[in-house]
Order: sequence, then C-alpha cells, then structure tokens
Amino acid sequence: MLLHIPRILTRDQVRAMRAVIDAAPWEDGRATVGEQGAQVKRNRQLPQHSTVALEQGRIILKALAASSTFFSAALPARTMPPFFNRYTVGETYGFHVDGAVRAVAESWGWVRTDVSSTLFLSDPEDYDGGELVVTDTYGTHEVKLPAGDLIVYPATSLHRVEPVTRGERVGSFFWSQSMVRDDARRAMLYELDQTIQRLRLLHGETDEALTLTNHYHNLLRMWAEV
Ligand code: NI
Repeated sequence: MLLHIPRILTRDQVRAMRAVIDAAPWEDGRATVGEQGAQVKRNRQLPQHSTVALEQGRIILKALAASSTFFSAALPARTMPPFFNRYTVGETYGFHVDGAVRAVAESWGWVRTDVSSTLFLSDPEDYDGGELVVTDTYGTHEVKLPAGDLIVYPATSLHRVEPVTRGERVGSFFWSQSMVRDDARRAMLYELDQTIQRLRLLHGETDEALTLTNHYHNLLRMWAEV
C-alpha cells in the first residue's frame, strides 16, 4: 500500500528545519549503503549520528506520533531515527532494495524494515526530476509531494529517485518495523480502520460500528507482534 499523508509538518516547521539542515555539513550518501546501493546512489546526506540529524529527526518522530493516519497505516512498533538527503542537478538514486534489517543504537539492536517513509522538504516547483518511483505488485508509481507531506510505502518494493535536472530536492526518509509485518494485512487493517471511522462520522456510535471495531482489534491482536 502506498499512502500519501499530507501536512505531517507545517510550512513553518519545514522552513525552520530547512534553515538548520541547509547550514549543516553534508556527506556523500554512499556512507551508509552496501555494495549494490553504492553503485546507484549519488546524493548527499546529513551524517547519521550528527547532532543536527538527531535533533531534527526527533521533530519528525514527534510529528509522526501525533498522526493517527501514520499509526493506522504503519502500525509502527519502532521507527528508526530519520535520515536527511539532498539531490542537486545530476544526482539520483537508482533502483535499489532497502536492506531487510538495520542496526541502530546499541540499546535497540536490529530493526526489521517493513515500512519506508519519505518526507518531502522541498516544494515540487523548486526542482525538476527527483520523483520517487516505487514499483509494487500494482505497477510503477511516481511520487512528488509538497514540502511537509509524507509518502508511506512497503519497504519490500523496488524504488528509485529520478535524476534531478533543475534545483535541489531535500527530503527525509526513515524505516519503521511494523507490529504487522505483512503489507497486505496492514493494508486490510488500515482500510477497516478508516471505514469504521467514516461509519462513525456518518451514523454516530452504532452497534455495527462497535462490532467492527471489535473485529479490528481482534485481527490486530491475532497479527501483531510487539
Ligand atoms: Ni531506499
């Protein structure tokens, strides 16, 4: 499931974040990838453990925690500290796979990457190219969103970032380990949850909505690993 969640960050938050990260030192994006990634990745990123990356990442994690849509779609057990990247003219990240597990700070051990998220920090009119292209079982999708908007997609998909041909594309991305590792199950739970919420809006609290809510929680209980 690909899901667009608008306005995870406000315009003011994006502006403040850009002011801080634009002024920080950036490194070659190949610092954090394996051999396959290094062959196709051409961009820059904030050093993963830099104070700026950790502090700005915390702002994003806080915004995510306030989003019931993100929770419903990703069912995150844990979300890794966000990365920040920038692509200038000619830079790109060719088709690649996200590694299935990633090491984080000692206390966390390993995180399974079930859900990938990209938060756009540049507006579409500020650059050409730079689309996120995701290939899943339903075909190929091109994504380019306003600054502050998020796209959530299964980490199991092949994906790439098209070469930037004008301007600069700045963004953040991060992985979550989901309580429900299977994308099809997560998509079913998301649709069920959203439908129950719409039913409540239309008809208020009904026995039917209560019964469906019970089913939602029983399915989640059956599938969740926490
Ligand atoms: Ni990736």
